[in-house]
Formats: sequence, structure tokens, C-alpha cells
Amino acid sequence: MDRKLTIEDILSLKGKRKITMLTAYDYPFASIIDEAGVDIILVGDSLANVVLGLNSTTEIGMSEMLVAAKAVTRAVKKSLVVGDMPYEAYQLGKGTSRYAPTVNARRFIDEAKCDAIKLEWFDNCIEVTREIIKENIPVMGHIGITPQTADKLGGFKVQGKDIESAKTLIDEAKKLEDAGCFSIVLECIPDTVSKIITSKLSIPTIGIGAGLNCDGQALVTYDILGLFKRFQPKFVKQYVDLSKEIEKAVNDFKLEVESQKFPDKAHSFNSNIKEKDL
Ligand code: KIV
Repeated sequence: MDRKLTIEDILSLKGKRKITMLTAYDYPFASIIDEAGVDIILVGDSLANVVLGLNSTTEIGMSEMLVAAKAVTRAVKKSLVVGDMPYEAYQLGKGTSRYAPTVNARRFIDEAKCDAIKLEWFDNCIEVTREIIKENIPVMGHIGITPQTADKLGGFKVQGKDIESAKTLIDEAKKLEDAGCFSIVLECIPDTVSKIITSKLSIPTIGIGAGLNCDGQALVTYDILGLFKRFQPKFVKQYVDLSKEIEKAVNDFKLEVESQKFPDKAHSFNSNIKEKDL
């Protein structure tokens, strides 16, 4: 498509063709992903792990997310851009100055020019989702493993493996659809469960570690490019090892500088001035 994708476009893809979503946190990656025709670019709070070297996504806040989101939207011409609400944007107790989910969601739209926001599942997320949608801000839900509250789920474990927890996931997905979400991320859920959720919803499901039956697939870009190796979940497919390529380029630069091969004439400026005249 030669124009910017809309929420309606994403909704209309369900049942027609699979939707693609990748993460980006900066201008160069966003340009490449946009140019490649990926449907959705998520400015994920995985920024905390894969770029900033932090252990938990709960360690970053609105300021870091907005810097990244602004860089991404400056680059994007076609993909739908979704800003990921960080933990501090809605999880702090009410009454604390930074707890204002609708204000923070609006900042992604008005300041960073995102098209939508993503909200991970948490105890009163339906109420918060409804409040944000009332402000005309499109919301993508997120269930299964929700890294911001992973401790409550018993760590980073596949969710919905028994009947009771599978039913809970189906119920959560339905509630998010009823609250008005335009799509839902299913993270680390067995194939059978994501298949049922996908068939019960009229909005698209985007799987990450949720099998082939979702309406779309998402991965963290640094994972598919081999740029983040601190931990790698089973569902990640690495399509290229860019760390090796980068390591080689860095070594070549170092060797060429040390051996005075670089900069050569092609990469230097000259003038008519003679050394003796100065
Ligand atoms: O932050 C992120 O990258 C995400 C994806 C894992 C969906 O939320």
C-alpha cells in the first residue's frame, strides 16, 4: 500500500492475510521496517532490555518512551505506529503524580504522533482501556505473558497451559474486545488456545510465541537480527546475525586506523595550500 495504514486497514486484514508487526526504537530501523512494508511498528517497552541494557521493562518511563516514539514517527510513512505504555504510565497507585493513564496515552498521540497505544493486561486494565478509548485513542491489548507484571504470573512462563488458565485468557481477550480494543497481542500462549481466541474475536490477534493460528505475528527486531543475545525465548527466530557483521566492521576500522590504511585519499580533503606557506 502506498499510503499510511489506518486502524480500519488493520481490522480489515483479519481473515484476508496475516498481519506483521516489528519493534523499532529509532529513526534508522523504523525507516527500514516501514520501507519493507511491515504493517505495524511497535515502539515497545522492550527498549528497556534490548537497547538500554536494563533487566526489566518496568525500569523505563514515559520520557524514554516518548524520545523513541518521536524518532520512529519521524521516519514512518506507511506503517501504523503503536506506542507501548510503560509501567509508570498507568501502574503507579492512583494519587501519585505520574499515574494518569489517559494523559500519558494522549502524550503518545499528540507529542509523539503515534497512531495508537498498547496496554498490557493488569487488574483494572479494562477500566483504564475504556477511559483511553473514550478519548478516541485506539488501544491494542496484550495478554499471556505480560512482562511488566510477570512476577504475578510466576515469571516468564507460557500462559494458559491448563483448562482454567486457558479459560481466563479467553475471557480476558473477550473483555478487551468488548472494551473497544482494535487488536490484541497474545504472548507465549499454546497454539490451541490462541486458535480459539482468534476464532472468537472479530478483531485481529497478533501472536508472539502463540503459534501459527493468530491473525498476525510480532517479534522484537533486535532478536530477529541477532543484536540481542542476553536471553532468547524459544519462539524467537533469528534471521541474520548482525552482531557478527558489526563486529567485523568494527575490527576492520580498528585495524585500518592502526595500520594507517584509513583514511585514504578517497576519504580525505585536499587544497592547494602548501605546508611551507603555513
Ligand atoms: O515491548 C515489546 O517489544 C512488546 C512485544 C513483545 C509485543 O510488547
